[in-house]
Amino acid sequence: MKTKRRVSLVSFGMTAAALVFFFVGSSATQQAGLSQTARTMVPGNPSEHPAPTQPIPYSHKKHLAFGLECKMCHTNPEPGKLMTFPETGRCMQCHATVAKDKPTIRKLANYAKSKQVIPWVRVYIVLPGVAWSHRPHLQAGVACETCHGQVREMEQMSEVTSVTTMYVCLNCHEMNHAKTACDTCHKSWSGGKFIG
Ligand code: HEC
Ligand code: HEC
Ligand code: HEC
Ligand code: HEC
Ligand code: HEC
Repeated sequence: MKTKRRVSLVSFGMTAAALVFFFVGSSATQQAGLSQTARTMVPGNPSEHPAPTQPIPYSHKKHLAFGLECKMCHTNPEPGKLMTFPETGRCMQCHATVAKDKPTIRKLANYAKSKQVIPWVRVYIVLPGVAWSHRPHLQAGVACETCHGQVREMEQMSEVTSVTTMYVCLNCHEMNHAKTACDTCHKSWSGGKFIG
């Protein structure tokens, strides 16, 4: 197994937010079976970031309060670039009985019955063509909350951090001695220019 790198905490001050982050962050890394906690705060998103209207009003806050773990719904299968979205069957493990008469859950049950994938509206999107993968980050012990914010507090998911910007990728790489050469993230970069 690869040695876990320690990701340094940005000088942020021990504000209440940082404290909350500390605990949430460490429990999330333990869930991933990591011995070494690695965290750094990705800056918030300065642009407006309204939550998109989702086909079903799923609340992370409500569901995570039951003690569900991220990996119940989001796994990182080979080759490791993407995290999955949960199969509707996952939701129906509870909702076959829980709140089954509510209109939102009827809609959920219809997706399940017709075996349709729920068309969740995407929140975080890296510019196509940029080499991005979750895998090396999870292996380095970066917690989900570092890049996606306080998911446990979110009634609706929105793009609360600037993790998809080049400045943020680079800044964190610099702080953690990860690679910063252009071709780390731009495979078409060679000899000082983009080669298409
Ligand atoms: C019971 C299932 C469930 C659990 C547990 C869960 N999620 Fe989710 N997650 C979803 C669903 C459904 C969506 C799509 C709807 C939405 O964006 O709210 C989603 C969307 C997301 C997104 C937005 C992805 C994008 O770019 O569109 C992120 C980030 C995320 N989850 C992170 C987490 C983290 C971190 C945890 C653990 C702290 C977690 N989730 C736990 C079901 C779950
Ligand atoms: C180093 C930052 C970082 C970490 C750590 C991270 N994510 Fe992400 N996540 C991203 C970025 C960037 C995207 C957008 C990727 C894209 O465009 O496909 C994303 C996208 C997603 C998506 C949408 C599907 C996809 O892969 O594009 C989900 C769901 C998600 N993340 C959940 C999680 C969960 C759960 C964890 C912890 C196990 C986690 N992420 C850890 C940065 C991160
Ligand atoms: C571990 C059990 C469990 C799982 C798994 C689960 N839920 Fe829930 N969900 C609940 C409970 C409990 C409530 C609260 C019911 C209430 O308030 O009456 C709830 C509430 C909801 C509500 C609000 C219902 C309303 O209109 O008041 C929605 C929508 C919802 N869940 C969608 C989902 C989706 C989508 C998934 C899968 C991604 C999912 N749930 C997975 C247990 C679960
Ligand atoms: C919170 C800190 C953090 C953020 C934000 C971050 N990274 Fe990373 N990244 C790392 C760390 C740590 C590694 C692992 C370094 C190692 O194992 O050598 C890594 C590794 C990688 C690798 C693998 C490099 C290699 O070949 O070894 C790629 C590609 C990458 N990151 C791209 C991105 C992109 C693109 C973004 C922005 C969308 C991003 N990263 C955001 C910390 C971060
Ligand atoms: C750690 C990952 C990372 C590294 C290293 C990196 N970039 Fe980027 N770059 C990104 C991301 C992510 C975007 C998309 C930003 C956005 O959508 O706002 C981007 C966007 C760009 C763009 C504009 C979009 C395009 O593709 O047309 C240029 C030009 C660019 N980068 C050049 C460079 C150069 C030159 C270097 C080396 C000095 C470099 N990048 C190093 C992640 C990286």
